[in-house]
Amino acid sequence: MKYRQLYETACAMLPRAYAPFSKFKVGAALLSKSGEVFTGVNVENSSFGATICAERTAFVKAISEGEREFEAIAIVSSDGEAWPCGICRQFMKEFCDDEFKIITGDDADSLKVYTMDEILPEGFRL
Ligand code: THU
Repeated sequence: MKYRQLYETACAMLPRAYAPFSKFKVGAALLSKSGEVFTGVNVENSSFGATICAERTAFVKAISEGEREFEAIAIVSSDGEAWPCGICRQFMKEFCDDEFKIITGDDADSLKVYTMDEILPEGFRL
């Protein structure tokens, strides 16, 4: 699957985001090495700390379906490009190699693509 298509899948998820508190909707589309796509949105909570980001929603869905190897994730917000928070970077690091791609941008014609190693150099792993 092309990164553009993955980004568009993330965009299509935005209406499903549950973000009544921040009003900042995030959509994600995670591509496995086997070619399957797992989507996610941010799901906020009245107890703010219980909120889960779109990226982790997508990973939790994939991992719980038995997927373990990933190629790329596209992320977008209701404001345009969206970068993974620190917790999500660490969460992704657990399951991804250094060449895993993080894709975002304000629109499908101006995508930014970074590797896991670029967004979390020297990341922690036991
Ligand atoms: N959010 C994500 O979904 N992904 C990120 O990597 C950054 C933050 C969400 C969490 C919360 O619902 C909203 O954006 C504002 O922080």
